[in-house]
Parts: sequence; structure tokens; C-alpha cells
Amino acid sequence: MLATGGTIAGSAGDASKTAGYKAGVVGVDKLLDTVPALGSVARIHAEQIAGIDSKDMSAALWTTFARRIDALLAQDDIDGVVVTHGTDTLEETAYLLHLTVKGGKPVVLTAAMRPSTALSADGPLNLLNAVTVAASKDAGGKGVLVAFNNQIHSARDVTKTSMYAVDAFRSPETGVLGFVQDGRVEFQRVAVRPHTGASEFAVADQWPMVEIVASYADASRVVVDALVAAGARGIVVAGTGNGSMHATLTQALAEAVKRGVAVVRASRVGSGHVMRNGAASDDALGTVSAGTLNPYKARVLLMLALAASTNDLQRIFDTY
Ligand code: SIN
Repeated sequence: MLATGGTIAGSAGDASKTAGYKAGVVGVDKLLDTVPALGSVARIHAEQIAGIDSKDMSAALWTTFARRIDALLAQDDIDGVVVTHGTDTLEETAYLLHLTVKGGKPVVLTAAMRPSTALSADGPLNLLNAVTVAASKDAGGKGVLVAFNNQIHSARDVTKTSMYAVDAFRSPETGVLGFVQDGRVEFQRVAVRPHTGASEFAVADQWPMVEIVASYADASRVVVDALVAAGARGIVVAGTGNGSMHATLTQALAEAVKRGVAVVRASRVGSGHVMRNGAASDDALGTVSAGTLNPYKARVLLMLALAASTNDLQRIFDTY
């Protein structure tokens, strides 16, 4: 188990508080002590990799996690890895690991919406369920998984959809892969796009600068021009509707493409599919459509692709 912090390791002075706590302050050994039932599911070796609120996640930490997970999975006495994480950027870390960790042993992320000190904290059961999934023979070869609120999601599709609810995670368009309840793990479908050992990507020592820009009523070109001047290598647009962009932004982004910046059109809507040459002519603008990836996951994929000096970006987005 690799612990990184988050609300699952959060603490508040008052047990009735589910907001206004400090995330990432409770150590992994203390978290494990709260779930004695873990002892009958697995033998756990725990490491505290970080103790952060996941809003502060960095690409450098991603590189550290991914390499540590690969090293652990290569050991014969390790059957799977559980990562505890904050919910805020869990979907980005999960997708990054889905595309970079090698080997077919289970890797399962989990988190909590309520701090460990809260009445009805959701962390202990999520922890038990994540370990149960990681210990399951059925969980291997399915890519990185997210076990949360009795559901099992694919790292590619899962996204946080609520600020406070304990069923905060959804996989829009695709749905859950399966369920974990009372020690039983049941898969009902698999994610078909390549991942883990079948992915062409690896974590980097130096990450390219890739930023996200939103389109909205009265959008200006100031942010795009500033990013190009700052040396951004990629820009993901959180477009309106099916990835459409304000005309002013479109003009600025077309100029950015001509200056060698990779521009990917995603959508701020939260579900659906941004089609190539749908809301904008990607052929004319030189842009790439993100398909079903939300802007944050599209940024992860664009960072990996640029770090690997990949040229055929539309193939990458159509494949992964
Ligand atoms: C975090 O993402 O670290 C804080 C919020 C949470 O885990 O729910």
C-alpha cells in the first residue's frame, strides 16, 4: 500500500465536521489500524510516499509513484498495489498510472470523501474494499482500477462528480467495471483500450508544459497568448458543448498551432464525445479532438505523448 495523503488521511478537531479539515495528515499505519479486517484479506506492506492534499499533486510525484509501483510489482512476494489518494485529482493520477505502469498485477486506487475523524467516515470501508480488489485474482490485467463506494471503475473513465457525496465517482458514458461488497469482487465488463503493458508510454524525468484553457461567453485570447509566450508545448481546451470554442479563442489557438503548440479540443460538459471535425474543423485548424476524455485526462495523455515526442496525436487520442 502506497499512501499519498488526501481526505482518507484527513483529520478535523470535531467528529461532526466533514468540511474544513486538514487532508493528508494521518499516517498510513494509523489508517490501517482502524481496519482490523484487513488482516484476513492480505498481508500489507505499507509505505508513506507523500502526505498531501491531492490538489497539490505534481508530475514529479507521478514519476516517483509510477516507478515505485513498477518496482513493487516486479517482486514475487507482491500480488498487487493499493494507492490511497485524495479525491480531487485521483482521476488524473489513476489515468497516468493506467498508461505507464507495466505488468498485469492489480493496481487499485482508493480515497474518501470524509476525513478519518468524521462520524460515518467512508475511508475504512473503501480501504478494505480496495485491498479486497487488489487481492482478487480477477482484478489482474484490467488496467488501473479505482475502488470507491463499493464500485470498481476503470482509471480511464472515472471522474469525480460531487463535492461532498460519498458516491462522488462516476464513469460517464461507460459505467462501472464491477462491484466489491462484503468480500466479494464481481467484474461485469472490461476496459478495451490499451493500458499498462500494452501502452507505448512511460513516465518522464522532464515533463512538457501542457495547460488547460476554457472557452466561455466573452472569452479573450489573453491566456492563450501568454501560454505561447511562456513556452507551452500543449494546450487542452475545455470547450463548450461538443468541444466548440469562442471565435476569439479559435483564432488565437490556430496561431498557436502554427507556432508548434499542440492543441487538443475537449469539453467542459462532463459527458459525451468530442468528434474530430465536429464542432470545429480540426483538419483546417490543425487541432486534435479528445473523444471521451475530459480536459484533465486529455492533459495527462497530451503530456505523455509530447514527452514521448509522438507526432500522430489524433491516433493517440483515438487509441487511448
Ligand atoms: C484531496 O484531494 O486530497 C482532498 C479532497 C479529498 O480527498 O476528498
